[in-house]
Amino acid sequence: MDFVKNQAQKVKAAVGEKVEDVKKIVHKGRPKGSSTGEPAAAGERAYLIGGNWKCNGTQESLTTLIQTFNAAGPIPANVEVAICPTDIHIGLALATLRDDISVGAQNCGANDKPGAFTGEICASQLVDAGVQWVIIGHSERREGFGMAGEDSELCAKKLKVALDAGLKVMFAIGEKKEERESGVTMEVCASQLQPAAKLLEEKDWANVAIAYEPVWAIGTGLTATPEMAQETHKSIREWVAEHVSADVASAVRIQYGGSMKGANAKELLAQPDIDGGLIGGASLKADFFNVVNGAL
Ligand code: PGA
Repeated sequence: MDFVKNQAQKVKAAVGEKVEDVKKIVHKGRPKGSSTGEPAAAGERAYLIGGNWKCNGTQESLTTLIQTFNAAGPIPANVEVAICPTDIHIGLALATLRDDISVGAQNCGANDKPGAFTGEICASQLVDAGVQWVIIGHSERREGFGMAGEDSELCAKKLKVALDAGLKVMFAIGEKKEERESGVTMEVCASQLQPAAKLLEEKDWANVAIAYEPVWAIGTGLTATPEMAQETHKSIREWVAEHVSADVASAVRIQYGGSMKGANAKELLAQPDIDGGLIGGASLKADFFNVVNGAL
């Protein structure tokens, strides 16, 4: 009996040590970041710049990119930065990326618990791994790249599951080219937000940023003009005021996404309702930091 008890104690001690080891390994050596300038004043929205690496990179290329970001100098104190690698590169980012950049995922399952969901990653597993953000509702996933896409109900469900697990969410919406041309941009954005507004409690919105990404601008080199983007961001904020609450509308950050890069970031970020960006192509280059510094 004593033998069994001793063995059990040994196993417990070993597992406990292992958990400590894993934490040490994951957080070992993550270089310190530094900031510059003033933090956002109370009641002002801090900028949120997200990098969406999509399905890009190798251990080698991303190690080099992380080194570039780590050496890129201070981040403005009024800017929050989050990088979203593929799931398989999240560990690399969590172990080696400067600690003033958060790490996010690009998707999570709609299942609220781990289990028999082959190929899925559960929001609580992301949290357990040290991930802070997730992108939900990106137009590429809504469209489905040859597989069944995700409709607005599913995106809203994933959003709620992610928030309940403790993640912060960049919730992406946006219209296609023909929708903009036929003048229904805001109807499309509203239809993508509606199921989320129905499912979320008001307090949930504290951990949501809305990423407005006109589909025709993503990866095409075509950017909405700052005026065009501002007009849509303002309409989105008005929609939130009407369908969620005035408080949420004034606090929620609305990022612009779609061919945003160093050369156009400053003008976009200067617009009163543009509170950041979600950056694809340019987040795979040193130019990402020109976007980050565009808020200075
Ligand atoms: P892009 O992508 O910057 O390459 O246009 C943006 C996005 O898809 O989030």
